[in-house]
Amino acid sequence: MIIIGCSHGKLAKNIAKRLKKPYSELNVRKFPDSELYLRYMKDVKGKIVVLVQSFYGQISDCIIEVLFAAKTARDLGAKKVFLIAPYFPYLRQDSRFNPGECLSIKVLSEMISDCFDKVFIIDPHLHRETDLHHLFSISSKKLTSNHYTAQYIKKNIKNPLIVGPDWESYKWARKVAEEIGCDHVILEKKRISGRKVKITLNKKINISGKNIIFVDDIISTGHTILEAAKNLRKLGAKKFICIGVHGIFVENALEKLKKANINVITTNTIPNKKAKIDISELIGKELE
Ligand code: R5P
Repeated sequence: MIIIGCSHGKLAKNIAKRLKKPYSELNVRKFPDSELYLRYMKDVKGKIVVLVQSFYGQISDCIIEVLFAAKTARDLGAKKVFLIAPYFPYLRQDSRFNPGECLSIKVLSEMISDCFDKVFIIDPHLHRETDLHHLFSISSKKLTSNHYTAQYIKKNIKNPLIVGPDWESYKWARKVAEEIGCDHVILEKKRISGRKVKITLNKKINISGKNIIFVDDIISTGHTILEAAKNLRKLGAKKFICIGVHGIFVENALEKLKKANINVITTNTIPNKKAKIDISELIGKELE
């Protein structure tokens, strides 16, 4: 087996170290016209090639890169090619909301199925589509970072009250609270647009003496958490902690959250300065 770091070299390196397997980075660069150049720097013939690719930043480039890398590995004689996607994109585009729209997740999962033998995704945002097996025709497995988040909270935060900002967040908020054995509450969210949400407190919450911790999968623009905090401020809460799995942080999300007295922590599925929860063990165990 050889672990190959694409967009997330640091995580890939940690995984390789844990497994005592060889690690190599892809040599990827761009031609002046922005076409991608890609080269394996170690021989992959006869090996299981594990590509660790988190799809953040220039997502379209990440997609092309991983498809080119998988096909090239096969072409170079790899025995099998696995994809580890700490963050996998386009899962929210799982329905044709308006006539003529692209079902992006379907197209992408078909392309991945065509190029890989197996795919592992950490905390995929499965909503209307509930199972990876419906999406991928190859072997697929979802992994969750919940245990690592729960451990982090247990170790670092006293008297937690876990708050899930919307119905879908129960898969993280409730599960984490259950492992810790602490109280939790799930709020109600209505998405108005990509940048606007409305959140309501649907039940009585006692926040007295509690450290409020929002737990969600994705933090992108930060508006979901900002809006949730706005609601809890009405109850007298002043400071908040927010733990997300995938810290995408677009449009100055981190600055906005900081201004609102929200201390952000994430896992390291996407590299960022708030990634304090390491999930390399989770992936390592799957590849053992
Ligand atoms: C959506 O339902 C997700 O679980 C997140 O709540 C959402 O993607 C967060 O996005 P934003 O930070 O842009 O509000």
